[in-house]
Amino acid sequence: MFAWKTEFAVNIPAIDRDHKNLVKILSQIGLLDAAQPDFFPQLLEQAKRLIAYTVWHFEREEAFMGRYGYTGLRDHKAMHEAFNRGCLQLFREMMAMENDPNQHQAARILLGETVSDWLKAHILVEDRAFADFYHGKTPVPTHPPASQPSASAAMPDLPLGLPRIC
Ligand SMILES: [Fe+2]
Ligand SMILES: [Fe+2]
Repeated sequence: MFAWKTEFAVNIPAIDRDHKNLVKILSQIGLLDAAQPDFFPQLLEQAKRLIAYTVWHFEREEAFMGRYGYTGLRDHKAMHEAFNRGCLQLFREMMAMENDPNQHQAARILLGETVSDWLKAHILVEDRAFADFYHGKTPVPTHPPASQPSASAAMPDLPLGLPRIC
C-alpha cells in the first residue's frame, strides 16, 4: 500500500504528522483479516475513518496555508474538494461489492490503491509546492505569518463519526 518514506516529508511538523497518520490508517486497512466474517463492515468503518481524517487534514492544511498567504491556496483547495467528491464515488463502488464476498478483497484494494495513489501524488507535488513556498524558496507573503501550529495541535480522536461528505 503506502509506506512512509522520507521523501514525503515537507518539513512542516503538523502537516507531516497528519500525513503519517494517514499512512498509518492505510496500513491498518491493509492488515484487516479478510478471512474474518466481519471483514467488510470493518473495511467500511476504516474507510470512513480514513476519509474523515483526510477531510479534517485538508481543512487544517488549508487553514495553515491561508495563515501564510499561500498564493496557490485556491487551486489547492479545489484539488482537495475534487478528492472529496471522488470519495463519494469510491464509497458507491465499494458498497456495490458488499453482497458478493468474492469482491470484498477487491474493495479493499480499490480503497487502498485509490487513496494511496492520490495522496502520494498530492503530497509529493502539491503539498510540496506549499512547503517550498513556506520555506521561502518562492516569494514570501507580504504580511508576517502567524506562528506555526504545533505538531501536537488538537487532532480528533478516532474513531470519528461519519465524514460529512458521505
Ligand atoms: Fe493538500
Ligand atoms: Fe496534505
